[in-house]
Amino acid sequence: MKALLGVWIAALVVAAGWIGWDAWQGGSRPAIGGPFALVDQNGKPFTSDDLKGKPTLIYFGFTYCPDVCPTSLLLMETALEQLGPDAAKKVNMVFITVDPERDTPELLKGYVPNFGPTFIGLTGTPQQIADVARAYRVYYQKVPSKDGGPYLMDHSSIIYLLDRNGRFVTHFTHDAKAEAIAAAVGRLI
Ligand code: NI
Repeated sequence: MKALLGVWIAALVVAAGWIGWDAWQGGSRPAIGGPFALVDQNGKPFTSDDLKGKPTLIYFGFTYCPDVCPTSLLLMETALEQLGPDAAKKVNMVFITVDPERDTPELLKGYVPNFGPTFIGLTGTPQQIADVARAYRVYYQKVPSKDGGPYLMDHSSIIYLLDRNGRFVTHFTHDAKAEAIAAAVGRLI
């Protein structure tokens, strides 16, 4: 009898452990995204609520970026074009700078239209940018140039896809195929 009780207690301890583990796993799942408050390329306040109603593609970078950012933004635009001429009205295309010191609304206004007429360019205070970057797990770091030229920004290069409620769905690297991005966005339109 004593032995049987011991087995039961052991079983309960194991079960409680599993439940606790599951809860911990669920609770610690990395939440990507969330609310933000920034300023758009027209100098107007822009929040995460302004994205609701359409799926969204977001990329974090900086306008002085020589290669990776333009490549990623062109990839987003190519994917959008594959969804047809009306897709531009049905999808939010967003560029968020990780270089708020230089990327003013005016600068963004001259930059984002290179990647499509509906592109939204967002900047903010260094704190606002730090907050949204943290929410999206974006790494960025200023890198002084060796030749005394303008500094660069080292940054993670990820394209995020949100659903029409602003919830994170999936992400792509800048090596992704436009067809794969288009397919994932198309399912949310
Ligand atoms: Ni870049």
